[in-house]
Amino acid sequence: MKARIDPQRCQGHGRCHDLAPGLFTEDGEGYGQVIGDGTVSPDEERPARLALANCPERAIDLL
Ligand code: F3S
Repeated sequence: MKARIDPQRCQGHGRCHDLAPGLFTEDGEGYGQVIGDGTVSPDEERPARLALANCPERAIDLL
């Protein structure tokens, strides 16, 4: 599974990196970014789904 953030939708709410700090970080302006290539390890699946469910802009995709 891979995580992706749609930069057109992200408004910088920051819940993604609060909930899944191993997967997401923020850029210099507070917008969410995936770490590395966004590969979600089995250990990260739960926080990844939590982040997806909690992004108010629905900017996160798990593919
Ligand atoms: Fe952006 Fe959603 Fe994270 S708006 S900073 S992807 S919680």
